[in-house]
Amino acid sequence: MPLPPALASLVEPFLFMGLALSFLPPTILASLRARDWTTLLSPSRLRSAWFGRFWAHVGPTVRQNAEKNVVPLLQGRVTNGVIVPLSPEEHQQQQASSPPPPPHPPVSGTVLEVGPGSGMWVSLYTPQYLPAAGNENKIRKIYGVEPNTSVHPLLRAQVAAAGLDGDGSGTTYEVVPLGIEDLAVSGRVEPGTVDCVVTVMCLCSIPEPRRNIVQLYNFLRPGGRWYVYEHVRCFGWQGWGMRLYQAFLGIFWPQFIGGCEMCRDTGKWLKEAAPWSEVDLCQLDGEPWYFTMPHVIGVLTK
Ligand SMILES: C[S@@+](CC[C@H](N)C(=O)[O-])C[C@H]1O[C@@H](n2cnc3c(N)ncnc32)[C@H](O)[C@@H]1O
Repeated sequence: MPLPPALASLVEPFLFMGLALSFLPPTILASLRARDWTTLLSPSRLRSAWFGRFWAHVGPTVRQNAEKNVVPLLQGRVTNGVIVPLSPEEHQQQQASSPPPPPHPPVSGTVLEVGPGSGMWVSLYTPQYLPAAGNENKIRKIYGVEPNTSVHPLLRAQVAAAGLDGDGSGTTYEVVPLGIEDLAVSGRVEPGTVDCVVTVMCLCSIPEPRRNIVQLYNFLRPGGRWYVYEHVRCFGWQGWGMRLYQAFLGIFWPQFIGGCEMCRDTGKWLKEAAPWSEVDLCQLDGEPWYFTMPHVIGVLTK
């Protein structure tokens, strides 16, 4: 008999951590076989390799669950935490005659994708998902800033599969093997030149989030946009019980899920980071009280 949804949702993080743990022995074995002592003797490298192996397995399911939100977000079709329907058919279902214009422009120009991991979202940067109405809307260059080198082979494979490896599509995806905290000093991307920053489920994992959010803001040009889909600490309306439970889970979660922090107030930190000309970042509509990982979604404009 299936568990009631609320109970299933409360138990799920433990199952997810258990699943993650099952990827630790094969990671150690693979490193032993490869005589990769550097990974074996460095806890941080081992954790990255372990997370990379785990995410390669769960990433496609994570994408399946999240793409109903992430695809419209990158298309500019999210406002006040609600997805604006795309087609007249979809819109008619909501009893209106024609679809409203998207509240934001789609992702375009020079893009900074933070923490792309194994490249679950790379295919979204293609005309299939983001058709460019004119030259202005075209995506020219994407920097995928990913410090975990163990996921790079998969990330590069996704880039090639999407045709973004610089072979004629006009859009190139460059994998940058750095943490965003090192991007400014590396000189690989000039501050003030990026049209769009994309963060999908990664601000939970970066170090010093408040400081690094400001760093990312500095990469945007004036008028540049930041597309956000992040899980955050439980909202006040979910009740103190959920806040407490999330804080309890948060003790174990980062140890199993590659350093991912559960209780970050990322939405608030983003809004407070710097002066924005427009802030359209809200809690994702429709998530129930019993979600241990509620989301914020939206676009901030510099
Ligand atoms: C939970 S995973 C999400 C991956 C991907 N965005 C997705 O949705 O499938 C978080 C990612 O953030 C990356 N990350 C961790 N620290 C980072 C940093 N300092 N700079 C950029 N990315 C980082 C991790 O390596 C990991 O790939």
